[in-house]
Amino acid sequence: MPIYYNEQTKTFRLDAGKASYAFCVGPCDTLIHLYFGPRIPDGDLSGLEFSLGLSSFSPNPPGMAGSRFTLDAALQEYPANGAGDYRLSALAIRGENGSSATCLRYRSHEIRDGKYALEGMPAVYAGEAAAQTLDVLLEDPLTGAEVHLLYGVIEGFDAITRAAVIRNAGSAPFVIEKAASAALDFPRMDFDLVHLYGQWAQERQLSRAPLTHDIRTIASKRGSSSHNHTPFAALAGKYTSETHGEAYGMSLIYSGSFAIETECDAYDAARAVLGINPIDFEWILAPGERFSTPEAVLVYSGEGLGGMSRTFHKLYRRHLCRGEWKEKIRPILVNNWEATYFNFNEEKLLAIAKDAAELGIEMLVMDDGWFGKRNDDKSSLGDWFVNEEKLKGGLKPLVEKVNALGLQFGIWFEPEMISPDSDLFRVHPDWVLCAPGRKPSIARNQYVLDMTRKEVRDYLFDTISGVLHSANIAYVKWDFNRNLTEAASPALPPERRKETGHRYVLGLYELLERLTSAFPRVLFEGCSGGGGRFDPAMLYYSPQIWTSDDSDAIERCRIQYGTSFVYPPSSISAHVSAVPNHQTGRVTDFSTRGNVAMAGAFGYELDLTKLTAEEKELVKQQVAQYHAYAPLVQDGDFYRLISPFEDENRCAWMSVSPDRSEALVTFVVPKTKVNFTSYLRLAGLDPDRFYEDSLTGAVRSGSLLMNAGLNLSRTWRDGESVLIHLKAVQ
Ligand code: GLA
Repeated sequence: MPIYYNEQTKTFRLDAGKASYAFCVGPCDTLIHLYFGPRIPDGDLSGLEFSLGLSSFSPNPPGMAGSRFTLDAALQEYPANGAGDYRLSALAIRGENGSSATCLRYRSHEIRDGKYALEGMPAVYAGEAAAQTLDVLLEDPLTGAEVHLLYGVIEGFDAITRAAVIRNAGSAPFVIEKAASAALDFPRMDFDLVHLYGQWAQERQLSRAPLTHDIRTIASKRGSSSHNHTPFAALAGKYTSETHGEAYGMSLIYSGSFAIETECDAYDAARAVLGINPIDFEWILAPGERFSTPEAVLVYSGEGLGGMSRTFHKLYRRHLCRGEWKEKIRPILVNNWEATYFNFNEEKLLAIAKDAAELGIEMLVMDDGWFGKRNDDKSSLGDWFVNEEKLKGGLKPLVEKVNALGLQFGIWFEPEMISPDSDLFRVHPDWVLCAPGRKPSIARNQYVLDMTRKEVRDYLFDTISGVLHSANIAYVKWDFNRNLTEAASPALPPERRKETGHRYVLGLYELLERLTSAFPRVLFEGCSGGGGRFDPAMLYYSPQIWTSDDSDAIERCRIQYGTSFVYPPSSISAHVSAVPNHQTGRVTDFSTRGNVAMAGAFGYELDLTKLTAEEKELVKQQVAQYHAYAPLVQDGDFYRLISPFEDENRCAWMSVSPDRSEALVTFVVPKTKVNFTSYLRLAGLDPDRFYEDSLTGAVRSGSLLMNAGLNLSRTWRDGESVLIHLKAVQ
């Protein structure tokens, strides 16, 4: 069993794969963090508590005058606000007395088989025999708050999942001002903070900088996880590389406003706290009610950042993604957005579908513009009824014709939005999310629907279901093209309006749950102006997400490389688009566009009818390559080899099959240079086996390929690339 409790020392130890995690019940029944790192043998963990010489500026808890114990410096599991710990807190509860000083004391615990679930929220799941849960009950005697700290361990993973469930066991309501999913304390601060920042069309760019004596916040206040930061950060040792050294990955399974805060204090200790963003958040909890935080996943890697990513990939692919498509090879699709934008009709779509069928593409996705009177982005969001001027006779005949060509059919929705020029708005202006008395800000000519309201969700469920029932639809792209503003639902009483952001997210999850359950065979793809809501929670509903509206292959190297820090290749939707590229104007080889897209859920985003005969041949080759390599890419172990954030001339990554008998290497030259030398050292191969490479036909040992590398020195043009397949021959 991976979770142990030692009665004598009151110590908990969780063994998670190659990692161990430990804490104990300390003075004043506070939960004291002891250890997170490489696996340790069972034994005495006492003496690890952080202790200090006393100064009067580090208070002792009531009843402990003169002791060395102070919350101001103790390493804790779930630090509470305002009662002697001046650092970042995980929990702040404002009671009837108007104070948000909060005090948590251990009361009991339970260890059970299976992995806990969170009501109404995505979480990692596992079979009863493959996981264990530790449920530690803490209580605040004054407010009556009971806090269940939940810890999950899944067999074979170097990861701990965490969440907190707060119950009001008192007699009066209280206000939760902050409830983090997890806190993680270290008695040292010699770490680099690694995170992924970005903007529209430039998501998940890599940032790495040493921690210093201050507070850093990686956050979103946008009501969605956002383009600006994905809910992830890692603390990596100063010398940690892709392949070596320690890395602590922290990922939050949440799609709304979040915060990952780090603080280094005067004693050179570091604390990380992650959860719902406390800014603009409050939650009133009435007696008997419960509140669940989203789930945090903490990964330990002793094998560098690459090891951390591979743990996230496997965990999210196998234990977070769900449904029919989670392990299946995804269909090669062609999406008409960059091919036609709003300017299409049945004839145009069928022309694309006809060429697609001839080239071996498997699905046609009809993007924005098929509904209401939508011919540009100024109208009709909310009117999910077919525009019969564009699609005469409706969806059914079109889908039948597409199916008859041998293609599946997919469709675009942006359910959470409403255009001021829409029938829905004319009937229900009150469904717009906006603080009473304010005028709603407008973005891309649209407002956000109030997803906290059941009637809004019911309307969306009914209309979307109606469309999905009306024809043989195999795929849905779920878009979200602006962020929340004036986010205070009029449907809530004023004192509860700071609950809006989280209630919005819960409403979204409820609708997604209903739809994905009602249409289990449909492949859902997430999207938010590209990758603006690329987070683990969305992967629970949609096993792939459109990664970026930037489809330029060279820019995609950076975006996809960054995305791979947390998210599995199978989730990274990537398409070949036209040149000059619509976002950057760059002209890149057709083969490089294919090679880069081949690293994810593959497809096309261009007008196939405009391709030359030569390009069509290349499409056929890419389709064949995808069929040959997709299992390797989707199921294999992913290794980043050369970072485009560090090397402007080269970028490389590879996937290795689980049995290490095959690998696919991608090498891209974003920008060439004179006398280009490159020995590409591979990773993840079996050192003792021999592999034949598809580039030269040479057979070399895994050891040689990993230590000497593939010699790729030659003259490369800007934007050239190569895919190299390795197959074990012995
Ligand atoms: C967003 C998506 C695009 C496309 C457009 C349609 O920007 O990311 O792929 O669907 O919306 O309006």
